[in-house]
Amino acid sequence: MNEVIKGISGKIQGTLSVPGDKSISHRAVLLGSIAEGRTEIEGFLMGEDCLSTVACVRKLGIEVETLAPGQLHVFGKGLFGWQEPREILDAGNSGTTMRLMLGLLAGHPFHAVMKGDASLSSRPMARVVDPLRAMGARIDGRNEGKNAPLSIRGGNLHPITYSSPVSSAQVKSAVLLAGLFTEGETTVIEPAKSRDHTETMLASFGAQVKTTGCISTVKGLPRLKGEKIMVPGDISSAAFFLVAAAITPGSELMLKNIGVNPSRTGIIDVLKRMGAQITCQNERIEAGEPVADIQVKHSHLQGITVEGDDIPRLIDEIPVLAVAAAHATGTTVIKDAGELRVKETDRIISVVSQMAALGMDIEPREDGMVIRGGRTLKGTAVNSFHDHRIAMALAVAGISAAGVTTIENAESVKISFPGFFEMLKSF
Ligand code: S3P
Repeated sequence: MNEVIKGISGKIQGTLSVPGDKSISHRAVLLGSIAEGRTEIEGFLMGEDCLSTVACVRKLGIEVETLAPGQLHVFGKGLFGWQEPREILDAGNSGTTMRLMLGLLAGHPFHAVMKGDASLSSRPMARVVDPLRAMGARIDGRNEGKNAPLSIRGGNLHPITYSSPVSSAQVKSAVLLAGLFTEGETTVIEPAKSRDHTETMLASFGAQVKTTGCISTVKGLPRLKGEKIMVPGDISSAAFFLVAAAITPGSELMLKNIGVNPSRTGIIDVLKRMGAQITCQNERIEAGEPVADIQVKHSHLQGITVEGDDIPRLIDEIPVLAVAAAHATGTTVIKDAGELRVKETDRIISVVSQMAALGMDIEPREDGMVIRGGRTLKGTAVNSFHDHRIAMALAVAGISAAGVTTIENAESVKISFPGFFEMLKSF
């Protein structure tokens, strides 16, 4: 499906809410499915990725009831309550579904097969398969288990201390979740801290979890109890509107009820360092997660260097950060972001090629990109390559471009932000 975006003539003003956090929604269903009793979820993201997770746990014999859009009840059967699935578990486009499910399946003494779409089938799985094999799970798959489809027979695990070569919450979560099924302590050490929603939610379900800097430890065989979870708005979705308002003259926007976990707020910190006027108001804690209302005003931005420990804190926001950088004075350098190459698309190639087509002065680097701000963008036909965050970043670039931008394969926004184009067009 194509989506046509016109350059904006006015300002972006008002108040809006974005759909629920994708990472927290996945974890709420997964942990609910291995807890005892009912888990009640409000604000669940009804995006395709999270619906893949729901479909997978249903195939494992767990009842999930949808009371209304965003309101789900999961009827968990305890740690060892999953049943051997009769069908293949399909993670669709979702790396979080596949990698976290593999961690949980590793704890179960039965056979299961996981598959994904063309994009997910080409993404690296050895990063979770290797540590799960080291814990005792038997996993096989395409390219010796480096890619999906993967088959797994779990059970009889032993705890490990795993030093992950990458900062990845999906790797950390897979290992910690497998660690629930074996006696003793399982530890993951990361090069830089990734998002910590698994650790926070596990603790709220009753597990013993310790986190010190980049080291996280879980104690095995906990009794997990069904919980009430309020999923906050997804900061990764809010980021498109933060940038749209920051670059559109006269704009002033309030984003309500957004998750502001420090392991996710790199985009706010970096935009502020670029000169954006952003304030977090009404800060509070809901279900263990920090939440706030975020106000953003149009601002004159300056190019900066983004690197190191900030990268895992804004990895999904880099496509739209490139749009902010194009509207900044001077040069923005994004480095240490080689992980972009193994997302839903190679996001260094997809961002650079499509933003350049709109007239951006942007060059790829092995581990990031360089953007020189100040060029006027001009609408043209661009492609999201079926990557939801590329489609939305191109739309934000499109509203700041002269003329008309046509985004091909724009339906991919349903992965994480159903209704994105309607919301954008309402401005
Ligand atoms: C996610 C972790 C990140 C992120 C993805 C969601 C999660 O991936 O890019 O969109 O929910 O754990 P990595 O763990 O591969 O960095």
